[in-house]
Amino acid sequence: MAKSARYKPKSQRKAQESVRILISSAEIQRRIGEMAKEIRRDFPVEPLHLVAVLKGSVFFLTDLARQMTGEISLDFIAVSSYGNRTETSGEVKLTRDLDASIEGKTVIVVEDILDTGMTLQYLLRVFEQRKPRRIRVAVLLDKPERRIARVRADYVGFTIPNEFVVGYGLDYAERYRNLRDVGVLTLGARDKK
Ligand code: IMP
Ligand code: MG
Repeated sequence: MAKSARYKPKSQRKAQESVRILISSAEIQRRIGEMAKEIRRDFPVEPLHLVAVLKGSVFFLTDLARQMTGEISLDFIAVSSYGNRTETSGEVKLTRDLDASIEGKTVIVVEDILDTGMTLQYLLRVFEQRKPRRIRVAVLLDKPERRIARVRADYVGFTIPNEFVVGYGLDYAERYRNLRDVGVLTLGARDKK
C-alpha cells in the first residue's frame, strides 16, 4: 500500500511537517467503485439519500455518488471538529443542519473517517429521532484501535492503523484537504504540543 513519495510544504514552519503516502489516489478510486457496488447490491432499486458530514467527506461523497447507479439525493451536515489539534475533545456540536427531512428515506451517512466514533454516535442519535426508513453508514477510513463509542460502519473503504492522516478531504488545521492521496502526517517538534 505505502509508497515513498512525500509532500514538502514550503514555508519555514510547515517545512517541519511531512506527509507519507498511505493510500494512493488510484487505490482510493478503485475501492470507492467497489463500495458503490456493495451499497447498490444491498439496495438495488430504492432511492438513496446520501448525507455527507462536512467538510472532510466532500471528496468521498462526490466520488461515491458518481460511481453509483440509480436514484440518489444529497444533503450535508456539519459538526464541530478537532480545530487545529490532532486529538479529539470528545465533544460534538451540530454546526450546520440538513436542508431536507429524512423521514421515510433510506439514508447513507457518508463519513471520511471513523476514529473514536463520538461524531457518528452523536449523528446517529440525531438522525434516528427523525424517523428515516433506515440508516446505513459508509466510511472511507476506519481506525478501530481508537474507538470509544459503540458504533460501527456498514461499509468501510480501508482499515488503517492508529496514525493521524490527511488528504482526500482530511485536514490538519484546514490544510492538506486537497491532496489526492491519503497520507500519514508527521509534525515538526514545535507543532507537537
Ligand atoms: P471521531 O468522532 O473521533 O470518530 O472523529 C471523527 C472526525 O474526526 C472525522 O470525521 C474527522 O473529521 C476527524 N478525524 C479523526 N481522525 C482523523 C485523522 O486521522 N485525520 C484527520 N481528521 C481526523
Ligand atoms: Mg469528518
